[in-house]
Amino acid sequence: MTCAHCADAEQLFNRRRARRELRSYRRKGPGRSTRLLIEALGTAQTAGRSLLDIGGGVGAIQHALAEAGASEITSADASQAYVDASRSEAERRGYRERARYHVGDFIEMAEELPVADIVTLDRVLCCYPDMPHLVEASAAKAGRLYGLVFPRRRWPVRAAFRLLNLLEALRRHSFRVFLHDPDEIELAVRAAGFERANRATTFVWQVAVYARI
Ligand SMILES: C[S@@+](CC[C@H](N)C(=O)[O-])C[C@H]1O[C@@H](n2cnc3c(N)ncnc32)[C@H](O)[C@@H]1O
Repeated sequence: MTCAHCADAEQLFNRRRARRELRSYRRKGPGRSTRLLIEALGTAQTAGRSLLDIGGGVGAIQHALAEAGASEITSADASQAYVDASRSEAERRGYRERARYHVGDFIEMAEELPVADIVTLDRVLCCYPDMPHLVEASAAKAGRLYGLVFPRRRWPVRAAFRLLNLLEALRRHSFRVFLHDPDEIELAVRAAGFERANRATTFVWQVAVYARI
């Protein structure tokens, strides 16, 4: 493990968790907010398009878009365990040759990663302290669509995030989650040259797809 952020992320997104999530994904498919993001991206229009999935975990978006005919899939994730899980599912589904995997902090790897038609960050902004930097660097990679899932700023979510950070501190882990202001996220995405094309919410999550202007 070379980057400090990755070492922190791997404390939470470890092998045991990756195995559990992959099992659950194989049994039940993607979680609700991920499903909403996949629907909002419009899988019918993703055939022949490339995808850069940042912090994709076990790869639910990658698998859905690969099935819908995406031409090239790049996964960039801070957790080696999650990348391994996503790659093994790609092998099982028979699209491994269309996929590339990068392990590390996206910000540190950004220069070497390709531009893609579609860029997604599903529940990733909340792992990173410097939201404007992450939005700017990731949106710069998106040719057509930019898809985000991030937490809503309501009191039960604030309470859950505080509790999660407290538990991480008690475990002497340095990983923390961050509840960024949704209005500031929207401003950062607009400043990067996108307008909102689609929006949905669950109790915890806001799902938004933006199109390049
Ligand atoms: C909450 S999980 C979400 C996983 C998946 N997208 C989902 O919704 O199930 C956050 C993911 O982002 C990754 N991650 C966090 N910070 C990152 C960074 N700076 N660069 C790349 N990946 C990152 C973590 O390793 C983890 O896989």
